[in-house]
Amino acid sequence: MTEILENKVAIVTGAAKGIGFAIAKRLSEAGAQVVLADIDAEGVRAAASRLDGAQGVVCDVRDEDQVAKLVADAVAEHGPLDVMVASAGVATVKPLVQMPLAEWREVLSVDLDGVFLCTKHAGLTMSQNGGGSIINIASIKAFGGSPATGHYGAAKAGVVSLTKTAALELRAAGVRVNAICPGWIATDMVMDRKAELESALGMDMEQAIGQLQGRLGIPEEIAGLAVFLASERSGFCSGTAYVVDGGATASLP
Ligand SMILES: NC(=O)c1ccc[n+]([C@@H]2O[C@H](COP(=O)([O-])OP(=O)(O)OC[C@H]3O[C@@H](n4cnc5c(N)ncnc54)[C@H](O)[C@@H]3O)[C@@H](O)[C@H]2O)c1
Repeated sequence: MTEILENKVAIVTGAAKGIGFAIAKRLSEAGAQVVLADIDAEGVRAAASRLDGAQGVVCDVRDEDQVAKLVADAVAEHGPLDVMVASAGVATVKPLVQMPLAEWREVLSVDLDGVFLCTKHAGLTMSQNGGGSIINIASIKAFGGSPATGHYGAAKAGVVSLTKTAALELRAAGVRVNAICPGWIATDMVMDRKAELESALGMDMEQAIGQLQGRLGIPEEIAGLAVFLASERSGFCSGTAYVVDGGATASLP
């Protein structure tokens, strides 16, 4: 059977672990040539070594020169870029009134500036080469408040907005741009902050997650949608933020 992403070239940022790695793995299994990028040099090389023919590259998405080089090197080595998945992200837990400006800026610089830079540089090369698919990983926190993660939610709302604008600006060049908005997914981003999140939520994580979305999601449950959005099967999908959250945002009090 022909794989749906055969001969496609894909970059995934934040791919050393978590959702980014799960997406890179599924893209690779669907036939794509995948470049995994991450600020964690050891982690990204180890992650790439687990996937057939994949490459691991160090890139800090906050730095425009590094993102431009990531894209240019991928094109030079593998050919025109077909897919960009911007999954690199960070989070901290702090109420807005206690938030140092530096901490606010740090989260915004990875979670919003980083996605902007990936969209910009991928969009530029894709629009010069006949098109492609850009997939930005946002969050359900783009759509509402969430105690102690105001910086993160603001960044993710920004990601949804820039995704829509990029989709309109790049439509004529054949570039589709979409966002995926996961609910709570069991990765280090969540599990490493369990105690802080429980304190902010005022209850056990199991209880909070149970009320919100039944259970924690797993990274593979995000990866399937990413593969679909990367492929030409989603050719009429652009400018949309797709929620994958076990129903968390469906509920009213
Ligand atoms: N886990 C969740 O519940 C959840 C929910 C909604 C959205 N998200 C989003 O999904 C994406 C992936 O998160 P995850 O849960 O897999 O987190 P994770 O912590 O498991 O992985 C994040 C990856 O991003 C990398 N990274 C951090 N800063 C970077 C930088 N400046 N440049 C390049 N790489 C960098 C890290 O090294 C790490 O490998 C993030 O954008 C996150 O905001 C996660």
